[in-house]
Amino acid sequence: MGARGRSAPARPCGGGLYVERAGRTRVANGASHPQPAEARAADKAPESGPGAWFVKTGCSACHSIAALGVKSAAQVGPDLSIAVEDVQSRFGRTVEEFLAEPTGTMSLVLAGQITLTPEQRTIAVQHLHDAFREYQRLKAEGRAPALNGGQ
Ligand code: HEC
Repeated sequence: MGARGRSAPARPCGGGLYVERAGRTRVANGASHPQPAEARAADKAPESGPGAWFVKTGCSACHSIAALGVKSAAQVGPDLSIAVEDVQSRFGRTVEEFLAEPTGTMSLVLAGQITLTPEQRTIAVQHLHDAFREYQRLKAEGRAPALNGGQ
C-alpha cells in the first residue's frame, strides 16, 4: 500500500471528484479509491435504508447488523441481525417489549447515551424486523452472514 491513498485529496485518481460527506472522503464519479486507515477506524456504514438508520442513531457504535451491511468497529453487543429471534429466546420477550423496558447494558444506553422517542423506538423495531427478514433471506440462499459481537 505505502503512501498510496494517504494523500488522496491532493491527487484524485482517474480525475475523480472528491466530496466531503459526514466527514468521509468519497469519489463521486464511481472510481473506487480505498481509504485503508479510515476503513479500519470507522464503522462500515451503508448510505441509506434500515442499515443507515442504525448507524445514524448510534447503535452501530456497539452492534454490527451484518444482514444490513453494518459492521461495528467495537462489536460490544451482539449482532442485531437476529435480535428479533434472539431477544425472544433469551428474555422471553419481543424486541418491542425489550426496547420499551430494556435490561442490562441496553437499559443504561437507552437511559443516557441514546434516548429514543416512542416513534424512534417503533422505527427501531421495524428495522430489526427488516434485518431479521434479510438475514433469513440470505440464509435461505445459503449466504447467511457471519454474526460477530459480544454476548
Ligand atoms: C454502548 C454500547 C451499545 C449501544 C450504543 C447500543 N447497544 Fe444494544 N446492546 C449492547 C450490549 C452490550 C448488549 C447485550 C446486553 C445484554 O445481553 O444484556 C445489547 C443488546 C441489545 C439488544 C438485544 C440483542 C439480543 O440479541 O439479545 C438489542 C435489541 C439492542 N441492543 C438494540 C440496540 C439498539 C436499537 C441500539 C441503538 C438505538 C443499541 N442497541 C445501542 C450495547 C449497546
